[in-house]
Amino acid sequence: MLIFKKVADLRQWLDSQSLPIGFAPTMGALHEGHLELIRMAKREGCVAVASIFVNPTQFNDPKDLEKYPRTPEKDAALLISAACDVLFIPSVEEVYPPGVNLTIDLDFKQLDKVMEGEFRPGHFKGMATVVNRLLDIVKPQRLYMGQKDYQQLSIVRDMIRQLALPVELVMCPTVREPDGLAMSSRNVRLSPAMRSAAPVIHQTLLWAKTALEQNRPVSEIQETAMGKLTEAGLRPEYFELVDGVTLEPIRPQGAILFMDETGMGGSIVACTAVFAGEVRLIDNLMLT
Ligand code: PAJ
Repeated sequence: MLIFKKVADLRQWLDSQSLPIGFAPTMGALHEGHLELIRMAKREGCVAVASIFVNPTQFNDPKDLEKYPRTPEKDAALLISAACDVLFIPSVEEVYPPGVNLTIDLDFKQLDKVMEGEFRPGHFKGMATVVNRLLDIVKPQRLYMGQKDYQQLSIVRDMIRQLALPVELVMCPTVREPDGLAMSSRNVRLSPAMRSAAPVIHQTLLWAKTALEQNRPVSEIQETAMGKLTEAGLRPEYFELVDGVTLEPIRPQGAILFMDETGMGGSIVACTAVFAGEVRLIDNLMLT
């Protein structure tokens, strides 16, 4: 695996490639969920490029940025094990050259205002800015992102549409621990008690799917789900049933059904954010 720190060196190498480029941006502290993005890019015949960049503009709390785990040597070894071709690990100055304004200021309508948008002001603007900047550097044909961060992926999809970027977004299914907990760089920070409680998040999402299939009212599903999470000793922030594309909350009378080019219009996704002790976890499940 080649490791590049400079945009110019990475560009020079990429320009000599004939295969399509598959790109998976990350913030490091890698786990199987991240590696699956690389494996998928390889399975689909791409030159696989991963980036590790802990993006300062998407952290609303400077302490969170400071605490973000940084394990570059271990990450490089894991990427090699997944047959990744290139790791791009730039400095802040390479991504954000001083004096250049790269801020993405698009109108994402409700996409960046609901759920995570409500609890993490400015987060999605910083995320969109860095993803756009990294796409401009790597210029991949395919962009691999995880369903785990469903709202993030929905916003990136809308950014690609609004800016007419020549890249195909590929959604990779959430990789889970055997007990159902979605893999996350934050899981290592869970206390033993919270680690044992956390699988209830996935169990509650699965319960919501069954409850919806049994035509239980949306508001009742939400309330019961919040109760289940609280009973297990977690502190849920939200448990929402939303449209798979617009992220609009599903009204009690049901979703407005329509099909669109993503194939996910009219689908219903349950999304939740939960504090397990001091660690904030998010997860989601497609219910229909
Ligand atoms: P990070 O949290 O490191 O995640 C990088 C990518 O891995 C994202 O596309 C995320 O959805 C995916 N991912 C994380 N956990 C996963 C899991 N359990 N299963 C499948 N995919 C998973 O998301 C970010 O970084 C940043 O916001 C970034 C897009 C890199 C911009 O800074």
